[in-house]
Amino acid sequence: MDKVITVEDLTFEYTRGENEEPVKALDGISFEIDKGSFTAIIGKNGSGKSTLAKNLNGLLIPTSGSVFVEGYDTRDDEAIWEIRQRAGMVFQNPDNQLVSSIVEDDVAFGPENLGIEPAEIRRRVDKALEDVNMGEYKMKAPHLLSGGQKQRIAIAGVVAMRPEIIIFDEPTAMLDPKGRKEIMAIIKELHQDGKTVILITHFMEETIDADRVIILNEGKILLDGAPEEVFKRADEIRAVNLEVPMMTDLADRLIKEGIDVPRGIIREEDMVEAICRLKSQN
Ligand SMILES: Nc1ncnc2c1ncn2[C@@H]1O[C@H](COP(=O)(O)OP(=O)(O)OP(=O)(O)O)[C@@H](O)[C@H]1O
Ligand SMILES: [Mg+2]
Repeated sequence: MDKVITVEDLTFEYTRGENEEPVKALDGISFEIDKGSFTAIIGKNGSGKSTLAKNLNGLLIPTSGSVFVEGYDTRDDEAIWEIRQRAGMVFQNPDNQLVSSIVEDDVAFGPENLGIEPAEIRRRVDKALEDVNMGEYKMKAPHLLSGGQKQRIAIAGVVAMRPEIIIFDEPTAMLDPKGRKEIMAIIKELHQDGKTVILITHFMEETIDADRVIILNEGKILLDGAPEEVFKRADEIRAVNLEVPMMTDLADRLIKEGIDVPRGIIREEDMVEAICRLKSQN
């Protein structure tokens, strides 16, 4: 399997005032990301998620250790454009990501900065707006759109740069449930279309469709694996004050009551199936 990101013993410290201790936000993290995979990253406030995201596309450079994006070392100044082109980033607040007064200009901004020729930019902008179901809004003013629509425009702006990897840092945190659903649907589609997706979220339910979950705690990796495996270890997750998906919680409570459903269930369908199986055995 091709690795698109390699993180080796990554430590990141924020330096503050002269007489203050630096803050160690990431503490010796290592992992690799497979091409075309969908990884969810969860962790409490301050656990280092955003710091990690910014290290994955060269917005921050490791204090020690290394990050490679498709073979390019983020510490190499000359590779920074190669890296930014390959690893796009979508942040929490869409207002901070929109720069123009017309939707299509906004989406064109990234590709223009890459020096792509106008006819190709036109094609990419139209395709990207279609991908996020915002084609009919292309001549509208971004500030008149809903939060979810603005976030879709921000995603289109990244998609138009055709990155291999898209890193989403809590993209749904400021949205209402409808906006959240729309954004999650788009993220899943991008993954199905072959993009490598890294999704930072604090909504446990948004991790269910990922093929891997990494849990960060105090700058270290606590757990890393397929969601079904990671959420089997619900007690360890709760011990660091994180939640688990609703179905995992329900499974644990049923098991405590002596009802024999498998531990680590994350999907409703699987819970229904497990309960039906018990019923047919009785
Ligand atoms: N610019 C900064 N200067 C100093 N310390 C910082 C800075 N940014 C973050 N930190 C500290 O680094 C640690 C990790 O922060 P980070 O923002 O990466 O966490 P996070 O998991 O993204 O949190 P959240 O869930 O709140 O977004 C925290 O202790 C935070 O206070
Ligand atoms: Mg953050």
